[in-house]
Amino acid sequence: MSIQNNKTEILDSIKNTNQCQRNWEKTPVTPEDIQFFKSVLENVPKKQGQIFHEVLFIENQVLIKKLYSYAREQDYKFAHNPQVNAPLLVVYVPYTEEHLETISKDVLNNFNKVVDQNTSFPYFGVDITTSMGMHMGILALAANQIGYKTGFCSCFNKKFRKTIERLITKDKIETDGMLCLGIGLANQNIDYNYDENLKTRIFSHKNVWSDNNIRHIK
Ligand SMILES: Cc1cc2nc3c(=O)[nH]c(=O)nc-3n(C[C@H](O)[C@H](O)[C@H](O)COP(=O)(O)O)c2cc1C
Repeated sequence: MSIQNNKTEILDSIKNTNQCQRNWEKTPVTPEDIQFFKSVLENVPKKQGQIFHEVLFIENQVLIKKLYSYAREQDYKFAHNPQVNAPLLVVYVPYTEEHLETISKDVLNNFNKVVDQNTSFPYFGVDITTSMGMHMGILALAANQIGYKTGFCSCFNKKFRKTIERLITKDKIETDGMLCLGIGLANQNIDYNYDENLKTRIFSHKNVWSDNNIRHIK
């Protein structure tokens, strides 16, 4: 019976992960929980144990406000991604293709020493995308499981990218394919998707998941 309850809780957390929280309590995420999130990222499965990114944990509210104001399409007039304006903002910043090549060569040299074969071991851009999905998906689930709410954002303008470039090892990273995750406590008094600044709920397109989306082969 307890296993059944556990499954229900896990599913509820996953459902929360799917919702994009667009308003927040000001309460900061505790240092223990931030440490927990860092451990989560450290232990996410990685192809050949390889790391394809850097990750920023941002708590500075002045900086977060600034990033929120830039988290919009280029030339879009209003900030419309308040999920970014969270107590904690986690930003996944991928390595450049050039840096990936260096890693590939390094792996090639060392790997070949062990197996004594002239095999190549290239990493591709798709490895970055896969890695980002793994890290950010598991992080969002972990956060929701311990009572926080989360909101993803992959929308940002040039000023957002410039601001991130100033914070991180510039020659290794690429700000084109970043992904942000706001984490914090929900403002319980309003709907999760209500944007307090625009004074409206933000609705997103929802495909209907059906049995056709799964092929079960026995
Ligand atoms: C990888 C990823 C990127 C996302 N990027 C954005 C974004 O840039 N802007 C936005 O408003 N929502 C973004 N979302 C949130 C989704 O649109 C939202 O969680 C989903 O459509 C569920 O809709 P709901 O929050 O309205 O329930 C993103 C979600 C994921 C998983």
